[in-house]
Amino acid sequence: MDLSCFPRRRYTPYATPLEPLPHLSAALAASCPGGRGPELWVKRDDMLGLFPGGNKTRKLEFLVADALAQGADTLITCGAPQSNHCRITLAAALKEGLKCRFVIEERVPDSYDPHGSGNHFMFRLMGVEALTVVPAGTDMAAAMTKVADELKAAGRKGYVIPGGGSNALGGLGYVACAQELQQQCFEQGLRFDRVVVGSGSSGTHGGLVAGFLGNNIRIPLTGIGVSRDPDQQAPLVLKEAQAVVDLLGLGFTVPAEAVQCVGGFWQPKYSVPNAAMVEAVQLAARSEGLLLDPVYTGKVMAGLIGLARRGEIGANERVLFVHTGGLPALHAYERVVLGDAA
Ligand SMILES: Cc1ncc(COP(=O)(O)O)c(C=O)c1O
Repeated sequence: MDLSCFPRRRYTPYATPLEPLPHLSAALAASCPGGRGPELWVKRDDMLGLFPGGNKTRKLEFLVADALAQGADTLITCGAPQSNHCRITLAAALKEGLKCRFVIEERVPDSYDPHGSGNHFMFRLMGVEALTVVPAGTDMAAAMTKVADELKAAGRKGYVIPGGGSNALGGLGYVACAQELQQQCFEQGLRFDRVVVGSGSSGTHGGLVAGFLGNNIRIPLTGIGVSRDPDQQAPLVLKEAQAVVDLLGLGFTVPAEAVQCVGGFWQPKYSVPNAAMVEAVQLAARSEGLLLDPVYTGKVMAGLIGLARRGEIGANERVLFVHTGGLPALHAYERVVLGDAA
């Protein structure tokens, strides 16, 4: 598969490391059936560029290249009040000498705090040009088009990036990740029995599905939902994977079986903490010094742990957890993850 015909900016001048997690594996095994659990590894996509980067960095390499090719002077995107995607998009804009505007969706009522910490603090520190807050359920595409129209009326040119950077072009970032992983496994003589990744706006999961199929990587991929159960999430991922396959001109239909989604670990609501997330964040931090975030990777690791304890991830498996970043949001939930919140 050849990605070289797509314009790409480079924000990470290296492959993100694959690291074994022996202490976390041992801690998990102690609570698994028969005292045996899977061998855990991590792909450190939290070490991507536009530091502290994450999965959005890979998508933005293709999206920003397209914005520049179209002569845009402003990136427009959307997300939740603690959006990693918005923060990384702003960092990319600054690096490219562009302006950046956000539409922020208050998915949890009253969750927007103009003086909030974490990512929100970084929006202000890095100087987002404008930020519009809209209520949950707003048509975000229409809200971003409105911002683009305002810019146009002022003689400027906006480039709209969908939520999470999840369209066909953004998904190419995780096709590139699949290729990077394949090369690393080859060079390091590694073989994984499963890859576990978070599944939200679906560009990461869908891009990996397309990249695995297109590169003949036969490792089962488990997507753990951060905001939806499989009945709603799987169709989104399938659609994204197919869009990526079509953009690449691969000429096949993505089989529904290639999309494996797991639910039940994100409740009570997107971004709202639960006890399993707190346990997972603490376990990773205290066993390996590995920092997970409360909204995405903490819930995804809680899913991995839960599946291992239920025996749905076997004790004989070597499992790769894709760490998709999100570190700044941890600071907005300090008391929660320490376990001393009211
Ligand atoms: C840290 C982190 N992990 C995972 C995800 C989910 O990725 P996707 O939206 O591509 O499904 C996000 C999305 O914002 C994220 O910020």
